[in-house]
Amino acid sequence: MALFDLFGKDEGKAAQQVPQHIAVIMDGNGRWAKKRGMPRKAGHAAGAETFRRIATYSKDIGVKYFTVYAFSTENWKRPQDEVDALMNLFRRYLKEAIEDMAKNNVAVQVIGDLHVLPEDIRDLIDECDEVASGLDNPAYATLCINYGGRDEIKNAVRAIAQQVQTGELSPEDITEETVSRHLYTADMPDPDLIIRPSGEIRISNFLLWQSAYSEYYFTDVLWPDFKPEHLDAAIASFNQRQRRFGGV
Ligand code: FPP
Repeated sequence: MALFDLFGKDEGKAAQQVPQHIAVIMDGNGRWAKKRGMPRKAGHAAGAETFRRIATYSKDIGVKYFTVYAFSTENWKRPQDEVDALMNLFRRYLKEAIEDMAKNNVAVQVIGDLHVLPEDIRDLIDECDEVASGLDNPAYATLCINYGGRDEIKNAVRAIAQQVQTGELSPEDITEETVSRHLYTADMPDPDLIIRPSGEIRISNFLLWQSAYSEYYFTDVLWPDFKPEHLDAAIASFNQRQRRFGGV
């Protein structure tokens, strides 16, 4: 199946005002599998299918940026076979993305500390970037892999400090914009809406800087069970919020 196949328009109904950037912490795969007596990796495989479906739906309803937390800097602590299964899913979906991106005008990109990933995955990410660079005004589907918000900010601070050390930049010229430009998300707007399924109510080191003014939406639904109508419910909730960005 193609990564960004369109599907029936009756599968969920989009709310009126669609956020420009939606980010998701894809949580609950392990519990979904456990409930079915399946190995955790089966939960991740189901979660990856949900990613395909919801990323496609997001694009169909006009979301420009759809970003998911796929593997954190802490996830290496999981059993090796679970880590291997996740890496295999990344391989498979990146290969599909390379085939489908142009047809669907979706730029699939990966952000995080990528240099420790297996070389073949890094090559696939480079291929994705190459195809994406030829797209005209695409929608963006971003996978955060080996991503940690604190790690990202630490890397930005380090790069800025190096510029100060070489005299390229003076400390008083460092602005919030300087920091934003040194994050993995430099070319993306901050997320408007961050969704966390599975009943956990925490941020878990996801987009710490970028989420300063994001709206959060939490639901008990486990990620593999997450459907277009759940995204609609999150967007409807977003539309009821008054975003004041610190004003009145
Ligand atoms: C958290 O659920 C989820 C992860 C650590 C991995 C998420 C990755 C995927 C859904 C695969 C994505 C692949 C592509 C190609 C997008 P958990 O395992 O911690 O769940 P639990 O809290 O129920 O144990």
